[in-house]
Amino acid sequence: MRLLNASGCLDALTAPDVARSFDAFVSKTVTPLPREGNPPVRIAETEAGMLNSIGLANPGRDRFLSDVLPQLRELGVPLWISVGGFSSADYAETCAALEDVTVELNLSCPNVEEAAHTAAEIVAACRAATTLPLYAKLSPANWDVAEVARAVEAAGADGLSLVNTIRGLKLDERTLTPSLGPALGGYSGPALKPIALAAIYACRRAVELPIVGMGGIRTGRDVLEFVAAGANDVALGTVLFADPDASPRIRSELAAEVAALGYSKVDEARGIAHSLHNLQPKVETTRT
Ligand SMILES: Cc1cc2nc3c(=O)[nH]c(=O)nc-3n(C[C@H](O)[C@H](O)[C@H](O)COP(=O)(O)O)c2cc1C
Repeated sequence: MRLLNASGCLDALTAPDVARSFDAFVSKTVTPLPREGNPPVRIAETEAGMLNSIGLANPGRDRFLSDVLPQLRELGVPLWISVGGFSSADYAETCAALEDVTVELNLSCPNVEEAAHTAAEIVAACRAATTLPLYAKLSPANWDVAEVARAVEAAGADGLSLVNTIRGLKLDERTLTPSLGPALGGYSGPALKPIALAAIYACRRAVELPIVGMGGIRTGRDVLEFVAAGANDVALGTVLFADPDASPRIRSELAAEVAALGYSKVDEARGIAHSLHNLQPKVETTRT
């Protein structure tokens, strides 16, 4: 199991030591053209998570390749580049320009409809453009995320990243108007955990692809649960804003959890949620 950061939740160039505490660094999503992002306010706290509306702010493909990527290479950790766009050609062109990285396709971009056939079309275009490993990052908003997983597997994806944020709204206590500039935002953090676990659980049963699990992970126990649901690797997102040193803390908490279960490594727990589930007797309901 590898520990990664979640895309957009860590700036490796301002915090290189934090980036090096992970087994790979995942970049913020890169789009073909530079994007200013959304108007402020872009981040708001809620009771059980965080809302963000960054709007995919990024320097654009050309500047990313010429300025940012060479600096990221100096970190000395494997790189995952998150690729976004507004059409399958956008995604494919960025993939074709990359080498010696893993690609994470952010399939939750504005204007990209997250239907299974759209996701599959983007993955197929990228598959034709590169031999690099391709992870498809899916949103949990789709009711049948397993169907999307099957479609991207058939289109040539090498793995899944589960999950992206889900749409949320926070109203200001005093004015009862939206706290974020663009009103709606992506909801992340602890409230996302059961939703992420459900997506991983469903996809693990549907496809053979390796899964990077994320969504509300804060502790070693959380990591253990994601692996039990079927994740091969996990990523830390929102937790890094409150605790940039979460990676070493979570690794040592995880080691204690794994030892307490009598395992020698966490990978031995992979998928056990499924076997235990299968062993449980079926509950018969009777009409009275
Ligand atoms: C401030 C912020 C920015 C994000 N930016 C991106 C992004 O650029 N691309 C992407 O695929 N996901 C992005 N995400 C989603 C995270 O990578 C992750 O999927 C999500 O936050 C769930 O994990 P968490 O609950 O541990 O944060 C962002 C999340 C946050 C909070």
